Amino acid sequence: MSISNRLRNKIKQAKKYEESGDREQAPEAYREVARLMKAFAKKAVSKDAENRRIEKAKSFLNLAKKIESGEHEVGDSGSEPKPAMDSLPDEYRQMVNSLKFSSDITLEEIGGLEEAKSDLLLTYGIQLAKKPQNVSVEGWKNVLLFGPPGTGKTLLAAAVSNHLNAAFFNVKASDLLSKYFGETPKLISALFDVARGEADQGFSVIFIDEFDALSQKRGSRSETNAERRVVSTILAELDGLSEKGEDEAVLNIGATNAPWDLDNAILSRFQKRIFIPLPDYRARKDIFRLNLEGNGIPVEADHDRLAENTEGFSGRDISRLCTEAVSTMVKEKNNDIPEVIGEGINAISGYELDVEPLTYRDFERALEEVDVALEDAKELNERYRNFSNSGQ
Ligand SMILES: Nc1ncnc2c1ncn2[C@@H]1O[C@H](COP(=O)(O)OP(=O)(O)OP(=O)(O)O)[C@@H](O)[C@H]1O
Ligand SMILES: [Mg+2]
Repeated sequence: MSISNRLRNKIKQAKKYEESGDREQAPEAYREVARLMKAFAKKAVSKDAENRRIEKAKSFLNLAKKIESGEHEVGDSGSEPKPAMDSLPDEYRQMVNSLKFSSDITLEEIGGLEEAKSDLLLTYGIQLAKKPQNVSVEGWKNVLLFGPPGTGKTLLAAAVSNHLNAAFFNVKASDLLSKYFGETPKLISALFDVARGEADQGFSVIFIDEFDALSQKRGSRSETNAERRVVSTILAELDGLSEKGEDEAVLNIGATNAPWDLDNAILSRFQKRIFIPLPDYRARKDIFRLNLEGNGIPVEADHDRLAENTEGFSGRDISRLCTEAVSTMVKEKNNDIPEVIGEGINAISGYELDVEPLTYRDFERALEEVDVALEDAKELNERYRNFSNSGQ
């Protein structure tokens, strides 16, 4: 297990002991956390990050001592130290925490996108690897994913973040502009602050979706001062120029369906831009497999044939198609349910659903129900491809 994983687990364990009021195990666990944190500091990619981790190690050691001496109460009233969040008012803490997102998705559960996956891992691997003395590699922190809707951009960001055992913050740019009206620049700084704090125990990924929403406002007449402040705060954070300094362990992923709407000021922040295309034949086959396996319903329809007949579909379209095929079959096989329910709730709890293998015909019928704007989709896909080839 990597040291960041061990650290994470140990911190969890120590907090549990602390919360349960265990005055013997808690300090011991915190001492171990401090020891691991010191070892983790040696692996830091910059002097700054190393110092921050050493400080953290000290504060964990202190906490262990205070619990032992009784100066720090344990049990429900005891609270763990959160240096990065100490100075944050409660409402920001809550807002930032509501942006933290946890999902178990793995890279294997994403169909296709092999190139994008390895591109991302390589990019971040280089960013996170220890550099030889006197070697500095700059500017790999910000990655832009662009492509048609429903092709796996959000999935990919979440899966990469899981893969790195990172804390994952999921933010929509449009929400930043509208939802937290007036408070947004403070919230953004808080977000990056918290992410930096968490990164000392591993890595943090900040995912900002709908990035184009920021750009369209820039320079347009309707742009208000408040919006300008939001955009410039985000850009400063992406540059790592905030007063709190840079942290190599905070990685930023932006996503957009409209890369051509991004102005240069924004585009230039993303050192790496990755095209997430519509799935090709092989990827579609993969996505069918991922959607259809694991629910216990046998499939007699040939995956090759399904993939052949869904050119231009996004992953989301395929997922909708599969859901539609399954639910139509289930509804048809069990159309007596309303009647049974009519007999009372006991009758339905004794009712077992009838299912049968899915055939190609089930998918054909689902195809008629699921609306996919194929002409637009292919044309748009080309436009993205041209954008990625134009060296933008
Ligand atoms: N490559 C893929 N492999 C497996 N499932 C996929 C894939 N792409 C899309 N899906 C399915 O489509 C859904 C939407 O994917 P996701 O949210 O990642 O798309 P997106 O590219 O972020 O879309 P948008 O641009 O609209 O935000 C997923 O929950 C999943 O069910
Ligand atoms: Mg998305």
